[in-house]
Amino acid sequence: MIDLHCHILPGLDDGSPDLATSIAMARIALDDGIETIVATPHWLVDIGPTPAQIRTAAQQLQTALVDHNIPLTVLPGAEVRADPELPAMVRRDEVMTLADDGRYLLLEPPFIGIPNYLEQLCFELQIAGITPILAHPERAEVAQREPELYERLVARGCLIQVNAPSLHGDYGRTIAEIAADLIRRGLAHIVASDAHNATSRPPVLSDARQAVVQAAGEAAFRQMTELVPSRIIAGRQAGDSTRTVK
Ligand SMILES: [Fe+2]
Repeated sequence: MIDLHCHILPGLDDGSPDLATSIAMARIALDDGIETIVATPHWLVDIGPTPAQIRTAAQQLQTALVDHNIPLTVLPGAEVRADPELPAMVRRDEVMTLADDGRYLLLEPPFIGIPNYLEQLCFELQIAGITPILAHPERAEVAQREPELYERLVARGCLIQVNAPSLHGDYGRTIAEIAADLIRRGLAHIVASDAHNATSRPPVLSDARQAVVQAAGEAAFRQMTELVPSRIIAGRQAGDSTRTVK
């Protein structure tokens, strides 16, 4: 499996605090059947981290994993907070894309409030050659108040990533139902861990298998944790073929 959303890089955000934790997270991921992690530290306009810092940190962690005989691939990425400045910054190569592929951006919508600029932002990113992947929209308040927003964004070519812990029920029943419903309606394309540590929020995807299979059938879990993510890290078209079919 490929985990496209994981705060495994040490010391860059509220995820892993140190190398020992990052290595513990890598071991958990490997035990769960994850072979590749895209490291996605939180990124904010004016704060960063810069793409160069993320590349260096990912390379350093990869080297440490090799030294510890942990056969897990770590690629650079970022979880980018939605901001109207993003399209201009993307054009200046100031924002890290997923797997540094220059094509897919993991975009974090605000948890509270309906961001009236979100649709325009996604459109402008697409004009700049970027496909936005909305990170865990099931956790955002807007998912409950305006679910049609996601239908419109997906119809225009955006992708959606749901959190494995959401499906597993770790954030409560309402969020679990919203996440499963996004999958059932063919609106979600990727399941990722959004792991922050090795204890309360570990890099585990297999916990979500049952909910995904119930929502969209046996093939959907592999599609959302392997096939679509593999296209994304290769910078290839994910497109309509990502829609899950029961
Ligand atoms: Fe995250």
